[in-house]
Amino acid sequence: MSKEEKRIEAFAEHTYGTWRAQKGWMEPLFIKDAEGVYFYDKNDRRYLDFSSQLMCSNLGHKNKAIIESIVKQAENMPYIAPGFVQESAISAVESLLTVIPLGLDKLFFSTSGTEANEAALKMLREYMSPNYKVISRYHSYHGSTPGGISFTGDIRRMYAERARCTVEGVRFAPDSYCYRCPFGLEYSSCKLQCAEYIDYMIKEEGNVAAIIVEPVVGTNGRIVPAPEYFPRLRKICDENNVLLFADEVMSGWYRTGTAFAIQNWNVTPDILTTAKGCTGAYTPVGITATTRKIAEFFEENVMCHGHTYTFHPLSLSAVQPAVSEYKKLMNSGLPQKVSRYIENKLYALEDRHECIGDVRGIGHFWAIEIVKNRKTKEPFNKKTDKFQKVLMTQKISAAAMKLGLFINAWDDTLVISPPLIVTEGQVDEGIEILDKVLRIADEEVMHTDVAGSRTTAEFNK
Ligand SMILES: Cc1ncc(COP(=O)(O)O)c(C=O)c1O
Repeated sequence: MSKEEKRIEAFAEHTYGTWRAQKGWMEPLFIKDAEGVYFYDKNDRRYLDFSSQLMCSNLGHKNKAIIESIVKQAENMPYIAPGFVQESAISAVESLLTVIPLGLDKLFFSTSGTEANEAALKMLREYMSPNYKVISRYHSYHGSTPGGISFTGDIRRMYAERARCTVEGVRFAPDSYCYRCPFGLEYSSCKLQCAEYIDYMIKEEGNVAAIIVEPVVGTNGRIVPAPEYFPRLRKICDENNVLLFADEVMSGWYRTGTAFAIQNWNVTPDILTTAKGCTGAYTPVGITATTRKIAEFFEENVMCHGHTYTFHPLSLSAVQPAVSEYKKLMNSGLPQKVSRYIENKLYALEDRHECIGDVRGIGHFWAIEIVKNRKTKEPFNKKTDKFQKVLMTQKISAAAMKLGLFINAWDDTLVISPPLIVTEGQVDEGIEILDKVLRIADEEVMHTDVAGSRTTAEFNK
């Protein structure tokens, strides 16, 4: 074993890897460099980043304007306590107010999406008291600490529940997931049952303070709701005096074409949280934005929340240049053009691979849902398989990595979310590799023959 390999092994031995049994944290890949849409390992192997790392490196790696701003701030003032104000905080707020939906003009800063949601929970429960219940949806992730993980519908909440690290007062509503409608209905004859059921829940539950939504569901499926869903949900919230809380930690920052995903439906929430892309992931920042009405409540009531790193100067130094880079990029027309290209390429891929049950998404935020049987939509894995066995999507992403394509996998979906700077040629590169590795699942696809019994696929022979 080389000296370098020994150092990596010692690193893994002395650190906790995230979301895993630790014996799986044996040989993390050493990354030496990253630039544009690529990153490079210790042997100079190049990987195309098709998931923007954790759907956060939206501006790609090594953006000069952001780096220069961070360096300047590090030389000037890396830290000052949150009770003071300094230039990078003021310019961050000024720039954010030019993109955050109108009406959401009072901001709180932290250092992650989890913290942004935790702050929102405290604020909304104080503001809405004595109402305290939060309605969330099963296909969701909202953070790792007690508040955020309690709103989370995916498997990670179940682990937190076992560890007794959740808060009370969260209820789960059905998803707006047309491919697998929880009511077994079809759009549009469904009459938007997924939204109407929330109205029913609010009235039957009582004490409901808010509904938290990822406007386009991120990790848990890139699920784009029916066009009428958010306008109807906004109305339901207003009629029942319930806050609409949009978690745009992942869906924000032009990933869906608009600055924030909920703007695709011309709906304004009462609370909006974001993180990840707000700095292009160059520094850690979480943002909680509220309406003026909520802000006015805290004029007299104590907003009893804060962190040592609230308004962290070095972190905030990346916000203004990131906002400016996003605007420049969107004005260039490149993301809009390439997003249509990605869409067409993914639908063409669906025609060639029988393991693809569904292709869905918007902008640079796409999912390929892998199924064992296209007709019955039988999945390869169940929700509880996560963390217990290697999922089919993980096999595919591991094979892609060997061919130089980084692509995240979660449950039954592969995450196609390249940085917004990606070009059509680079999309082709990624699609070519996907085309090869999807055969792993094609080989295990089950056909339903005429008599209704299942046979293994002969696909792609
Ligand atoms: C929608 C959503 N909310 C919250 C979070 C938590 O953000 P963080 O990992 O920065 O704490 C995530 C992370 O993936 C997310 O996707």
